[in-house]
Amino acid sequence: MNSCIPMVEFSHVRRTFGRTVAVDDLSLTLYRGEVFAFLGPNGAGKTTTIKMLVGLLQPSQGTIRVAGYDVVQHPRQAAQLIGYVPDEPFLYDKLTGREFLEFIARIRGMSPQQIQARIAQQAELFELADFLNQLTETYSHGMKQRMVFASVLLHDPPLLVADEPMVGLDPKSVRLVKDLMRTRAAEGKTVFISTHTLALAEEIADRIGVIHRGRLIFVGSLSQMHQQGLMQDKNLEDFFLELTNGQEQSSGSKIAFQPAASVPTDPAAPSELGEQKPAPAGFPKEHGDDSQLGHPSP
Ligand SMILES: Nc1ncnc2c1ncn2[C@@H]1O[C@H](COP(=O)(O)OP(=O)(O)OP(=O)(O)O)[C@@H](O)[C@H]1O
Ligand SMILES: [Mg+2]
Repeated sequence: MNSCIPMVEFSHVRRTFGRTVAVDDLSLTLYRGEVFAFLGPNGAGKTTTIKMLVGLLQPSQGTIRVAGYDVVQHPRQAAQLIGYVPDEPFLYDKLTGREFLEFIARIRGMSPQQIQARIAQQAELFELADFLNQLTETYSHGMKQRMVFASVLLHDPPLLVADEPMVGLDPKSVRLVKDLMRTRAAEGKTVFISTHTLALAEEIADRIGVIHRGRLIFVGSLSQMHQQGLMQDKNLEDFFLELTNGQEQSSGSKIAFQPAASVPTDPAAPSELGEQKPAPAGFPKEHGDDSQLGHPSP
């Protein structure tokens, strides 16, 4: 992990839905070159956090920056840096796989030459080549999920955000996605995934954050979590379950193992990611509280 360069900075982020506090005072920095797993039980606030990060929901309070760009103030610049895989794969039923990928690539501002080469590459990587000319409505859940991955990685964004990415994938596809995440981190990119499962986080994440009832109650590496558990005479799983099962951190304090380096970035400064292209029209915007849209309407 390149622990000096922040990619995402959540600062005192809160999101409420009426009287429900879905995310409460979340401060967290994700770095370039790391896979970060956001771990928590149902209703913990993972999807809400992710939707705020990708611009589908606005925070009620606090700020989120992607490579220095505030996602509310500069949604287009931030969105251009993100590949977002939602918890439910979203495709356009009446487009073929190829048409869908071409559509997304055009929105991303890719040239015609680039588009065909990248589509061929992604189709091969995600084993979609045989289905590219079929309507996506004929795809199985796993095929749809792989198509979503292929589409969000077409423009090779420096930040991949995936909400429960392994759900519905067969073992071979799970392996493919895990390898892809590790490879991206090794290339200096950032991967942020949500998951319920400790085993997945254990396998691929450099660091994990445990969220429970909207509050971040642990941030650190798995070995740090191990140590913390051992101090209480517990194995990793027991410790995790205890963290998220009634052992309220009533003081609100989290067990934090954040790396020290967390340099705030100047929103006005160009990021270290090179030239910022104009954001694709309509992607992603605030769609209100319930939007599941990950792509603009055709
Ligand atoms: N659109 C909404 N309107 C009202 N309440 C919402 C809305 N979205 C989320 N919530 C509430 O916010 C809290 C956090 O939900 P969220 O979907 O972020 O959890 P999660 O960690 O992703 O859960 P899961 O593991 O089940 O996907 C829950 O109490 C949920 O009921
Ligand atoms: Mg969720």
